[in-house]
Amino acid sequence: MIELEGISKTYAKSAVKAVDGLSLKVDNGEIFGFLGPNGAGKTTTIKLLTGVLRADSGSAKVDGIDMAASPLEAKRRIGYVTDNPEIFARLKAAEYLNFVADVYGVDSATRQERIGKYAGLLGIKDVLNASIGSYSHGMKQKLLVTGSLIHDPENWILDEPMVGLDPKSAFSLKEIMRERAASGKLVFFSTHVMEVAEKLCDRLAIINKGKIVFTGTLAELKAREGSDESLESIFLELVDDGEEAAS
Ligand SMILES: Nc1ncnc2c1ncn2[C@@H]1O[C@H](COP(=O)(O)OP(=O)(O)OP(=O)(O)O)[C@@H](O)[C@H]1O
Ligand SMILES: [Mg+2]
Repeated sequence: MIELEGISKTYAKSAVKAVDGLSLKVDNGEIFGFLGPNGAGKTTTIKLLTGVLRADSGSAKVDGIDMAASPLEAKRRIGYVTDNPEIFARLKAAEYLNFVADVYGVDSATRQERIGKYAGLLGIKDVLNASIGSYSHGMKQKLLVTGSLIHDPENWILDEPMVGLDPKSAFSLKEIMRERAASGKLVFFSTHVMEVAEKLCDRLAIINKGKIVFTGTLAELKAREGSDESLESIFLELVDDGEEAAS
């Protein structure tokens, strides 16, 4: 379970709040989609949630554990896939995965099993002995995904995970997301792909200019907007309203 309460963040030398008093609660067993235009604050919110950034005010809790008060305990319960897979180019993929497994204290048999499963599903199992520097963008993305699941986290948080994945890999990733939610774990991901959000998410939130403009199911969103249009049309209208309100 993850909970953000009135969380705000302004970057140094910036006049605007990247995230502005945002509250959000996501339960276990849910696939939760986080949508919003470029610069809306999705990545910043995810960095606050995962403890990469420190909030100016408000709190982030993971399974009830406060990120600011007990960062290690909170982070232990998270698997995080960043939007930027530029990592450790000199390491071999297998070395990276073993390093991650060491950090999380995953024993040898368990790590082998999980690496085999996820690297297999994502189609990078045969290239784990190559250096990460030789990987394509999509391959790095898949390596990050595999690493993020090595400790079988309760809460899996992904920032635009579909970017750069070929159709087969995107399908495998969606299957993994569904499997984890079905087993009672939490999946939270940001995306620009409306079709993915529409098909995959149990609930979603839309953020615009650092503020949540909607949280709920797609059916609730359609009911609220009094429209049976696609998520894409409703999204564009909502985000457009936000622009007008701000100007
Ligand atoms: N490192 C940074 N330093 C200063 N400002 C930043 C930094 N990172 C993001 N911002 C600003 O914070 C705001 C939110 O950015 P953020 O990256 O969270 O948006 P996003 O919703 O993830 O966008 P995108 O869809 O393009 O990934 C933007 O106005 C952006 O310019
Ligand atoms: Mg982003």
